[in-house]
Amino acid sequence: MAQLIDGKKISKDIKDELKEQVAQYKEQGVEIALAVIQVGQDPASTVYVGNKKKACEYIGIKSVAYELPEETTEAELLEIIDKLNKDDSIYGILVQLPVPKHISEDRIIQAIDPKKDVDGFHPQSVGALSIGQPGFVSCTPAGVIQLLKRSGISIEGKECVVIGRSNIVGKPMSLLLLRENGTVTICHSRTKDIKEVTKRADILVVAIGKPKMIDASYVKEGAVVIDVGIHRDENNKLCGDVDFDSVEPIASAITPVPGGVGPMTIAMLMNNCVEAVEIRNA
Ligand code: GUN
Repeated sequence: MAQLIDGKKISKDIKDELKEQVAQYKEQGVEIALAVIQVGQDPASTVYVGNKKKACEYIGIKSVAYELPEETTEAELLEIIDKLNKDDSIYGILVQLPVPKHISEDRIIQAIDPKKDVDGFHPQSVGALSIGQPGFVSCTPAGVIQLLKRSGISIEGKECVVIGRSNIVGKPMSLLLLRENGTVTICHSRTKDIKEVTKRADILVVAIGKPKMIDASYVKEGAVVIDVGIHRDENNKLCGDVDFDSVEPIASAITPVPGGVGPMTIAMLMNNCVEAVEIRNA
């Protein structure tokens, strides 16, 4: 039986630690505010944005919501970002993705002041991560590292395999595992023999976006398996990229879906909002 990596508990622990830090900052007269911008009414984005606001409330961070209509122009959005960049009361700026097609995601991300880039998506943040300098780290991969560390799983010297090479998860995940002294391999859609690679992994992080694709035939006995995916299966039940029932018996530790990586993303966003105070003063 694999150890179940409890993202719900670990994310709650992190949020409780942050709540204390936020209270201390308040005593020093620092009030952290996060600006959350949503353009349009994508239902999934509305749920994510709602959860971010709730987490802010729990921790004691002020959330300032911008709910903009679908027709908002890129220029209008850039103007709001510029205003927020200049506003000292705002510590973090988050534009919920995806943005409508007529707006360039790249230009929006690049317009955010890197000192307020709590998503860790700005090229400066990504560059800093790749050369080991301080900066914001993308929340989901940062959450995976916390799941491993707080479950007593060491990364140093381990064969780490990441499936997926997205800018938000796969690439920063690989850099973070490398920073923790793992030996890192990235698999993706053009990898010739994925199984041959994943079977070597001591730590396997799966972020491919295909429901239940990874079954036991991809996994080495005793591996740690982290599932970043979230989908609904044919019975409308939540599932990940990993076929949990197949992999769980042979893994040494595994994240469930839901309750694994999911809750960590918001906990790490909150962590980045608190870190924004230090980053501003650095
Ligand atoms: N859309 C899906 N995930 C994310 C995220 O982590 N940050 C932002 N800004 N948008 C998202």
